[in-house]
Amino acid sequence: MSKSSPNPRFAIAIMAAGKGTRLKSKRPKVLHEIGGRPLLAYVIEAAKQVADAKDVYVIVGHEADRVRAAVAATGANFVLQKEQRGTGHAIMVGRESLKKYADILVLSGDVPLIRPETIKRVRDFHLRRKAAMTVLTAIPADPSGYGRVIRSKGDEVAAIVEQKALTKAQHSAREINSGIYAFQTKPLFARIGKLKTDNAQHEFYLTDMAALLTRAKQRVVALAADRVSEVLGANTIAELVQLDAELRAHTAARLMASGVTIYRPETCVIDAGVEIGADTIIEPFVQLYGATRIGSDCRIRSYSVVSDSEIADRVTIRNGCVIDRSRVERGAIIGPYSHLRPESEIGEGAHVGNFVETKKARIGKGTKANHLSYLGDAVIGDGANIGAGTITCNYDGVNKHATVIDDGAFIGSDSTLVAPIRIGKDAYIGAASCITEDVPAESLAIGRARQVTKEGWARERRVARAAAAKKRVVSSNT
Ligand code: UD1
Ligand code: MG
Repeated sequence: MSKSSPNPRFAIAIMAAGKGTRLKSKRPKVLHEIGGRPLLAYVIEAAKQVADAKDVYVIVGHEADRVRAAVAATGANFVLQKEQRGTGHAIMVGRESLKKYADILVLSGDVPLIRPETIKRVRDFHLRRKAAMTVLTAIPADPSGYGRVIRSKGDEVAAIVEQKALTKAQHSAREINSGIYAFQTKPLFARIGKLKTDNAQHEFYLTDMAALLTRAKQRVVALAADRVSEVLGANTIAELVQLDAELRAHTAARLMASGVTIYRPETCVIDAGVEIGADTIIEPFVQLYGATRIGSDCRIRSYSVVSDSEIADRVTIRNGCVIDRSRVERGAIIGPYSHLRPESEIGEGAHVGNFVETKKARIGKGTKANHLSYLGDAVIGDGANIGAGTITCNYDGVNKHATVIDDGAFIGSDSTLVAPIRIGKDAYIGAASCITEDVPAESLAIGRARQVTKEGWARERRVARAAAAKKRVVSSNT
């Protein structure tokens, strides 16, 4: 770092080592998800918009390997806090990595909705005020559970007091500590060793740095966030669910601003990473998860659930479909009640209808499979017709086998195709056939017993039974 550099180098430390006891969960807190992604992923993403990944340090501890693995792709650094002895201790552990920077921003891994512009505001305010410590605050409707910021005058802070340590007089204090701070590293590390554990949790509280610094005549200032929601923490399941709803409302608002119609957005569950093109209509109670991308001019009808799938333009997904890791080409019509399992590829203008299940199945352009079928490990060409109730028998109890149906083939209703098998181009399969051998192009295959009709059989049976019954009555009377 050159001394003449106009911007002193900043690092960002993200505290993510805690267990999250209040969640009563086996999963570490920062890996709990909102909007389909772990809490920590949001915080790192926001940090990376303010600093280089190489200047971002994530402090991990509880289930460190699992946390590291979940966010390794971000390129951030990790610092191990082996024993989790509080937020103050987390920064003590980070000292070796952080002390080379003039200032650091500290974020909490469980405060996920923080926006990069707010982090920048904290940084700029901190530098402008030449403060030793800057704390981001908010005044939520219900401040319970949070530490409170006690101001001395103007923006200057006297102390941060944890909820459990509030005096009677301080109980009315409503300005909360967001858990997001900026520090000058010199005064921070000069005094961090003075933190004590004489508190309800027997931990080193980073919040106690405020009083330590003011007592040493260092400047500690507060900056209020513009939006309360972005500094809310996720410490309980109820708080997590509330943040999830908040984030999804933002996602829906962003999509609507870009031309997507979402009816009753409060009933839809749309992950933060979902992309949708303009003029697409999303009906109530639709769920869109993961890396799903939907094109323009589509209609996704109620009760459909789409995960990690690509839906091209002008596609209609009728009610109640489940689509997972699949691709649907332009103009196709899916549903109602279709189940596209992973690696299904539905071609342009194809129809997959009522109670049709596909898995690892490629269905060609304009092909129709409209009713009650299972199509698995299948490659089906263009313009084929798959009759109601067609089943690809892909599993012999040990291995999976492929079915190939060439362009223009017509599979009669209720056919079973025992794989491995190939039905040639433009071939016909008679209804209710069980097909066990390949069918050449342009042929007709019928694999069922010939019909036998016995005329008068029912009448004769009726007469015979009536006669027998009469005989029984007579013999019982004698
Ligand atoms: C903390 C603040 C509180 C503030 C609130 C805002 C303290 C003492 N209190 O309380 O004033 O209102 O955040 O959300 O700091 N962590 C570690 N190592 C540890 C302990 C915690 O990395 O040893 C991490 C946690 O994983 C979490 C963050 O630090 O991401 C905050 O810890 P948490 O236990 O949630 O603190 P709060 O009780 O929420
Ligand atoms: Mg917390």
